Amino acid sequence: MKAFRIRELKSSDAQALLAFEIRNREWFESHIDARDPSFYSMQGVAEHIEGYLSDFAIGAWHPIVIEDGSGTIVGRANLKGINQSTGSAEVGYRMGRDTCGQGLATQALRHLIEQAQSRWQLTQLVAYVFKENAGSRKVLARCGFVLEQPSSNEASEAECRFVRALNPDLNAR
Ligand SMILES: CC(C)(COP(=O)(O)OP(=O)(O)OC[C@H]1O[C@@H](n2cnc3c(N)ncnc32)[C@H](O)[C@@H]1OP(=O)(O)O)[C@@H](O)C(=O)NCCC(=O)NCCS
Repeated sequence: MKAFRIRELKSSDAQALLAFEIRNREWFESHIDARDPSFYSMQGVAEHIEGYLSDFAIGAWHPIVIEDGSGTIVGRANLKGINQSTGSAEVGYRMGRDTCGQGLATQALRHLIEQAQSRWQLTQLVAYVFKENAGSRKVLARCGFVLEQPSSNEASEAECRFVRALNPDLNAR
């Protein structure tokens, strides 16, 4: 089995991240909202990383990447909009098409859940998924997320919301 490593995003990742996003652009756009075209340049990705790392520094975001044994980025995931007053954050993730089906999204999400509890002391995570994204829904269910039943006036929306309660580790941090 190939070796993969999960680590925090860093400012020197621009080139590797741009290559990952370009390689998988069509794949991602068939499952999730497309990025602005200006993202797909060294400057665009460098600014994107800078924004994420600034938010990481103030405790609002937790960005991670998954790389293979040769240092190629094959996936990424984030805790987004970390809110200490509500104790919640949103999760997001995307894995390269070539490495799908090997458990990487599940591993990345488990890592974020652990960080949400031990590092950020959160009590709840949420995720938004297009209804037809069966792979992502499976990952969420496997990691303990539960589909929230929509109110009747939201039933026609394309996205659904999953929620997971956490037990923050009050001795950590
Ligand atoms: C969804 C996504 C993150 C899954 O990544 P992954 O690394 O393949 O996930 P895992 O291997 O941990 O688990 C995926 C599971 O879903 C299953 N699966 C994938 N596509 C499926 C489909 N169309 N129907 C049913 N099951 C499916 C896989 O077989 C696997 O289950 P298994 O381990 O029991 O075989 C990846 O496909 C992706 O990045 N897609 C594009 C971006 C995206 O959709 N992001 C999520 C937004 S909410």
